[in-house]
Amino acid sequence: MLQAAANGGAGGLVTKTISVQPAEVPRPCMAEIRGGFLNTELWSELPKEQWIEKEYKLARATGLPVIVGLGYTAAQIRELAPLVKPFADALELSTHYVGNNITPIIDALCAAKEAVDVPVFMKLSPHPNIQEIALALEDAGADALVMINSFGPCLGIDLETGLPLMGSKDGFGWLSGAAIKPLALRCVYDAARAVRIPIIGVGGVSNGRDAAEMMMAGASAVQVCTEAILRGPTVYARIAGELNKFLDDHGYASVDEIRGLTVRLMRQRGAPHSAGPPEVNVERCALCGTCEKSCPYGAIHTNKEAGILEIDEEKCFHCGLCVTRCKLRAMTMEL
Ligand SMILES: Cc1cc2nc3c(=O)[nH]c(=O)nc-3n(C[C@H](O)[C@H](O)[C@H](O)COP(=O)(O)O)c2cc1C
Repeated sequence: MLQAAANGGAGGLVTKTISVQPAEVPRPCMAEIRGGFLNTELWSELPKEQWIEKEYKLARATGLPVIVGLGYTAAQIRELAPLVKPFADALELSTHYVGNNITPIIDALCAAKEAVDVPVFMKLSPHPNIQEIALALEDAGADALVMINSFGPCLGIDLETGLPLMGSKDGFGWLSGAAIKPLALRCVYDAARAVRIPIIGVGGVSNGRDAAEMMMAGASAVQVCTEAILRGPTVYARIAGELNKFLDDHGYASVDEIRGLTVRLMRQRGAPHSAGPPEVNVERCALCGTCEKSCPYGAIHTNKEAGILEIDEEKCFHCGLCVTRCKLRAMTMEL
């Protein structure tokens, strides 16, 4: 799969998290759900010996940077890091089963920093205190943050059997894919406002526009997992191409121009905001009625006979919903 990802246009490889013992993965352990994906994969079910003897070598043979995923406690990292050192351009430590307490997370980082001289990235779950953890990790010497891991625990039910979709003890799983993108963006943005080390954004990136959004929130690079599971390893080249096109279409010379853009703009803006009324681009508007149907204020009327969209300025609350619902981007509002 790592080689397929390389052939599919990935710019770097993050290997599956391994730990001291192989994971005993309950099954079923993956399910597509509406808007997202559930998994209860834990870490790699393969023994560390297989990774060291075979898998990392195959990853290195691609010629791409190899980021080796490890978990979880300081003692486990102390044992694993020297073993994977010959194969790693960087380590990525997962905090997924470590909890929200900062001390064991820092201890794991320190254990890795002592064992290797390559950069150590810290992969954060959507911890409630993520800004505090991010700052503490930067102070303790983390070279980059990767955020976020899947969100949960969550539950999905198979309506035919009444049983949970996941085979874990409680039937719970971890949510990923499009559903968690806003959460990932918020975490990246929160961390970017607090730290100076690079942030790698992950969570629901399915296309180039999502990648651009992550970068505007403050990410220097993005990772993609669920989209590749669902649509195959060629997604990497597609997403990179779409990101390039987005940059070209908007007159940006490189990702440097969008990285952290939202953080900078929001610093300038300060106080809560008020927006202008929606404006309609008549050439783009197809009078499809989508905006009228969902206007909570009854302020929009699709006048098909006159061929225009009428907006009642008395009723319009400038809520912005119509602008986001219009797939033809025929509506804008002054921000
Ligand atoms: C099936 C599956 C297995 C995963 N295994 C790991 C893992 O071993 N280590 C890890 O840090 N994250 C793991 N993740 C989390 C992803 O790396 C990623 O952080 C998360 O799914 C959000 O990104 P996405 O929406 O692009 O999938 C896994 C996700 C899925 C769906």
